[in-house]
Amino acid sequence: MDKPKVVITREEIANKVAELATQLRKDYREKNPLLIGILKGSFVFMSDLVRAMDIPVEIDFVRLASYGAGKNSSGKVKLIKDVETPIKDRHVLVVEDIIDRGLTVQFLLDYLSFRKPASLKLCALFDKPSRRKVEVPIDYVGFTVPDAFVVGYGLDLNEKFRHLPDLCVLEEQD
Ligand code: IMP
Repeated sequence: MDKPKVVITREEIANKVAELATQLRKDYREKNPLLIGILKGSFVFMSDLVRAMDIPVEIDFVRLASYGAGKNSSGKVKLIKDVETPIKDRHVLVVEDIIDRGLTVQFLLDYLSFRKPASLKLCALFDKPSRRKVEVPIDYVGFTVPDAFVVGYGLDLNEKFRHLPDLCVLEEQD
């Protein structure tokens, strides 16, 4: 059984979310931005972020699958749930929990740019640059994390651990 060990505390996360929100509030004031969260992992970050931004925003979600069960994925990205809001001429901010190889967001940014948004930017709370396969421009980034599988604050392993308020790594336990 894997035991979660805290690597970034809920307080550190809250401070970082507040910092990101302050910057976003400045950059998106008067722009009625559309925040697009990538399900499922970003749901916790998204809900904290929009409340901390404290300006009018619209939200939508997409669901993309790249990881199968467990820690390794096929590398293929599939769109499972599309965005429901028209994005042409909108200021769009993609909200992602963690960028690992970069394949998921690269797929989404390409897909969304075809629909001609007024602007298209990316905000990720966690970045794992050591495993990057494709270069993706992250406009707003919270924490850089080492090459370890992390869970909590919305992130899962086989649908477990999303509810943990801190970011954790899993330690092997007998
Ligand atoms: P990428 O396409 O390799 O960048 O994968 C990004 C997606 O993989 C994220 O949206 C997460 O769902 C998942 N992922 C990547 N690393 C982790 C991790 O350490 N813990 C939990 N999920 C992860």
